[in-house]
Amino acid sequence: MQIENIQFEQEGTIMYITINREKYLNALNKKTILELNHVLSLCESDDSIRVLIITGSGDKAFVAGADIKEFASFNRREGTELSRFGHELLFDKIATYTKPVIAAINGYALGGGLELALAAQIRIASNNAKMGQPEVTLGVIPGYGGTQRLTQLVGKGKAMELILTGEMISANEALKIGMVNYVVSQEDLMLKAIEIANKIAANSPRAVRKSIQAINATYGNIGLLKEIELFGSCFGTEEFQEGVTAFLEKRKPNF
Ligand code: CAA
Repeated sequence: MQIENIQFEQEGTIMYITINREKYLNALNKKTILELNHVLSLCESDDSIRVLIITGSGDKAFVAGADIKEFASFNRREGTELSRFGHELLFDKIATYTKPVIAAINGYALGGGLELALAAQIRIASNNAKMGQPEVTLGVIPGYGGTQRLTQLVGKGKAMELILTGEMISANEALKIGMVNYVVSQEDLMLKAIEIANKIAANSPRAVRKSIQAINATYGNIGLLKEIELFGSCFGTEEFQEGVTAFLEKRKPNF
């Protein structure tokens, strides 16, 4: 597979993956999801890799969400497929991965970008990071696991507020509500991620793998399947048209 949108490099027992679409704030289009899936599969079968660190290129964004331009004209069936595709190839894969994935959040983590971080086992944010689920401003709902994983992490009350208002919060607010494990300066972001990765890498890989499995055992997939269906049902509606058109025209939506 020709890899264009991500960079990956192994150093010692750590695999560093950088999403590299800086011009579009590292928005996740289908090709990027396929590439990430490919690299995750390669890493899974390589025993020399113990921990993965995912970050975004540049100093502005981790990932600004799913690629809105790519799905702007999708109908209900295509919207449902987009969500199912993301869940299966990337988000569920990371959440149930056999090696820990650390999200190093170096800027905006919005929509699918926050959902990518939420799927990871550990999240570290730099102090310039901003996080949120702005999907309702586009006429859709979080479609890559956010309705479930954000709720699991921060509780129903805060998840409701974040998803229904669509507002962004600062890294420090995210720390307060337990959305991220640590907040550090931009310079220290990778150092902190490496420090944690090295601690994990020194432990029994089998025990680490089984711990992830055991922690995940509580969380079923009924909510995730419902999310896919409801995400798809937003597509092709007038409100969806208004939401995505407003984004493309760089104006506020009028619902
Ligand atoms: N998809 C596609 N392109 C995106 C994008 C996205 N999610 N986010 C940013 N971009 C593009 C912009 O369109 C712009 O491209 P052009 O130069 O061609 O116009 C470029 O990246 C730079 O972005 P801005 O000019 O908007 O930068 P800014 O500093 O003014 O604003 C921002 C930054 C607040 C993050 C703003 O870009 C923004 O609101 N982005 C969208 C965030 C969002 O709504 N994410 C959710 C997506 S839907 C989703 O993720 C669904 C799901 O759960 C599956």
